[in-house]
Amino acid sequence: MSFTIAIDGPAASGKGTIARALAARFGFAHLDTGLLYRAVGALGGDPILAARELTPDDLRRDDLRSAAAGQAASRVAAIPEVRSALVDFQRRFARTEPGAVLDGRDIGTVICPEAEVKLYVTASDEIRARRRALELGADEGVILTELRERDARDAARDVAPMRQADDAVLIDTSTLTIDEAVELAINLARRAGA
Ligand code: CDP
Ligand code: CDP
Repeated sequence: MSFTIAIDGPAASGKGTIARALAARFGFAHLDTGLLYRAVGALGGDPILAARELTPDDLRRDDLRSAAAGQAASRVAAIPEVRSALVDFQRRFARTEPGAVLDGRDIGTVICPEAEVKLYVTASDEIRARRRALELGADEGVILTELRERDARDAARDVAPMRQADDAVLIDTSTLTIDEAVELAINLARRAGA
């Protein structure tokens, strides 16, 4: 039996931080699914082919965290064939690990609709931009524009748009410290049997 925690939410909302902390707390494996789309975007060339032939090494490129890689990811993520090429890998990860935490945009809605725990992590646009700008050493205004553009594209696409699953618990980290957000998530997961 496997236990799955699905975490979705907009850019820089804190979902990766919560996902890593939950994985560490419960000894679960963690998959940052955004990295798959970032790698496909960064590889260039035909994105459908890149998605079909993605290797673990592609996920270790050191340019994947940049704002440009985020934008490229969100463009290729709207292509249905790119998404379908990545579905099996993500589902297999969730199924084969005894405990798994996956974070992304469509984990609770499409990839793991049966997940034992579903969280939708959000925060105000300004706070997310401030946190990401700090992280990247970039201009807050430029990052705010980038995040808004990416969120709008992610929410508007036809296939697997970013959205809160009906049964997901909303965590707004706008006024929470990392420790508070993590504690909340740990308590929810524990209550669900993690
Ligand atoms: O994975 P996602 O893009 O949603 O966000 P993240 O990488 O987990 O968090 C973005 C940044 O916000 C990181 O630098 C976190 O340390 C920071 N953060 C924070 O300051 N307060 C929180 N409650 C959550 C995250
Ligand atoms: O860390 P941040 O939240 O900024 O982005 P990310 O999670 O690394 O995702 C980068 C982009 O990949 C997103 O803007 C989405 O377009 C796409 N993505 C997706 O479509 N589905 C997922 N499950 C994960 C990411």
